[in-house]
Amino acid sequence: MTPRRLLLYLLVAICGGVVYASGFPNYHAHFDFVAWDKHRTAEKLDAAQKWWQSAAIYQIYPRSFKDSDGDGVGDLKGIAEQLPYLKEIGIAATWISPIYTSPMADFGYDVANFTNIDSVFGTLDDFDALIAKSREVGVKIILDFVPNHSSDEHEWFKKSAAGDKDYKDFYVWHPGRMVNGTRQPPTNWRSVFRGSAWQWHAERKEYYLHQFLSKQPDLNYRNPKVRAAMSDVLRFWLRRGVTGFRVDAVPFAFEIAPDANGNWPDEPRNDWVVDPDDYNYVKHIYTADQPETLHLVYEWRRVLDEFQKENGGDERVMLTEAYSPLDVVMKYYGNETAEGAQMPFNFLMINWLSNDSDAYHFAETVNAWLQNMPEGRTANWVIGNHDQNRVGSRLGADRIDMLNMLTNMLPGVSISYYGDEIGMTDVWIPWNDTQDPSACHTNPDIYEKFSRDPERTPFQWSDAENAGFSTANKTWLPVADNYKTVNVQHERVAPLSHLNIYKQLHALRNESTLRHSSVELKAINQNVLGVKRMLLNDYTYVFLMNLFDSTEQVDLTQAFDNLPYEVEYVIVTPQSTAKKGDTVKSDGLKLLPKEAVVVRSTTKLTTTVGYFAYYVPKNEKHK
Ligand code: GLC
Ligand code: MG
Repeated sequence: MTPRRLLLYLLVAICGGVVYASGFPNYHAHFDFVAWDKHRTAEKLDAAQKWWQSAAIYQIYPRSFKDSDGDGVGDLKGIAEQLPYLKEIGIAATWISPIYTSPMADFGYDVANFTNIDSVFGTLDDFDALIAKSREVGVKIILDFVPNHSSDEHEWFKKSAAGDKDYKDFYVWHPGRMVNGTRQPPTNWRSVFRGSAWQWHAERKEYYLHQFLSKQPDLNYRNPKVRAAMSDVLRFWLRRGVTGFRVDAVPFAFEIAPDANGNWPDEPRNDWVVDPDDYNYVKHIYTADQPETLHLVYEWRRVLDEFQKENGGDERVMLTEAYSPLDVVMKYYGNETAEGAQMPFNFLMINWLSNDSDAYHFAETVNAWLQNMPEGRTANWVIGNHDQNRVGSRLGADRIDMLNMLTNMLPGVSISYYGDEIGMTDVWIPWNDTQDPSACHTNPDIYEKFSRDPERTPFQWSDAENAGFSTANKTWLPVADNYKTVNVQHERVAPLSHLNIYKQLHALRNESTLRHSSVELKAINQNVLGVKRMLLNDYTYVFLMNLFDSTEQVDLTQAFDNLPYEVEYVIVTPQSTAKKGDTVKSDGLKLLPKEAVVVRSTTKLTTTVGYFAYYVPKNEKHK
């Protein structure tokens, strides 16, 4: 290292210390250093980044995306047909909820054949065509892997129930316990979908475990043959060309090992829950988050990595679903000796934020992930999925843009749920039309609390019949009433539509600063959240969102260090009076009620030793 370079490093370290000492932690110590190294060009930074590390990922709920054959349910041909749309809005990869053979007791999360396609969605040929199309268009395909359980109609379960020697231990069986001469389930374990997690099987004359529906028997991960069979399922789809997997319900994979007599312990009660059918009637210390489950995730990652090693191509990725305590979720990333999921879903925004969360809550929620994430890992940001009420209904329809902006202005991977980009909101479904088993298992008085139908309605493509989703007389769930205006066709031509704001964001995500810089995020006051992204030799970006109904005057130079004297609007929202391209003094930025904007420096940030400046090179006009 030259002395000059060493001096620069030292100064950067000191300045970094000063910047971040102002009450702001330095999240990515290593990452920052890279970003501040002036010898790293954008090309070098890009080359060091894997395809997914600053990608936008999009979840498709296949029943509701696009119906190509007019039966009222979406399908693979429909998805293939619409891949160019995903490309248009800036998506790198889409994860598709289950499309495998299934009796649809849990709409595909009850798999009867892990290596075939359900006829409602198409055929294996259609799947191959989807992969071919995805390569042509440049949008990668990620499948939903459902390892915890199969359908009770899976061949393995039928053989297991019949006592077939190769399969008898594929699931979790127990004869039950005799209490006062009557047979009772082996433990007090509850199902996520209510009631006992044990179901008596008349043929085998034993109970089997099901942490979800009784039609979703839990596989026995203590049986190495099960693990081998499920790794083969991964390989089957890798060979067919998928880029990775979203892994369903990971924390439920293992249960505590049985004792020497083959018995399991009861789980302790949660005193505050009185309804014995409620999942939270007991504390899940033996049925969720068992340490062996982490190793299983690492084992799957090895399958992905070995496949890549042998076959080349892009890194294959895993996104894991775990609504577990944060310290457990972080372990899914892996450790010093084992790699895990590249993207353990970050559900903090879903779990911690509500309609009245203020800017401090938002800052705490985002920073909790960044501060707890192991060094060298990549963050991801999720605000919705097929199990949660739509973000617009949860956090406010007039906040959809600012939330799309937030998840896309943060470093790492942004993950969108289909329809959030056009501002779809929940659709109320009456009890008689309710489809979701987790609601059908309750009663008309409480079903709304459990139903996931409202967030699963058909995608709104246009103002045509059924919103252009299907030509059927009746779609599997009703289309939202607002489809005449909330749809892709209409929003493509409305300059400040949700869709156009989303598209602008995704274009911005290709900028070096947004791909490579660290982040500084804070509540500027109770109402305003600010996010700053800064990269040497590049533009500095600031995202601001005003959560409530007051008009706010913001002095950005007070809130953040090293900001230029003036900034330029790059994204505005319908609440804004400013126009894209307008400039404004950094110390006097006005935010109208619920307004969110992205501004950036008008010139690039440069440095001479120890001194940062927004330098306008001679003969170069402001861009
Ligand atoms: C996951 C899925 C959910 C499904 C459950 C059982 O939580 O996201 O939709 O019902 O697993 O497979
Ligand atoms: Mg299990």
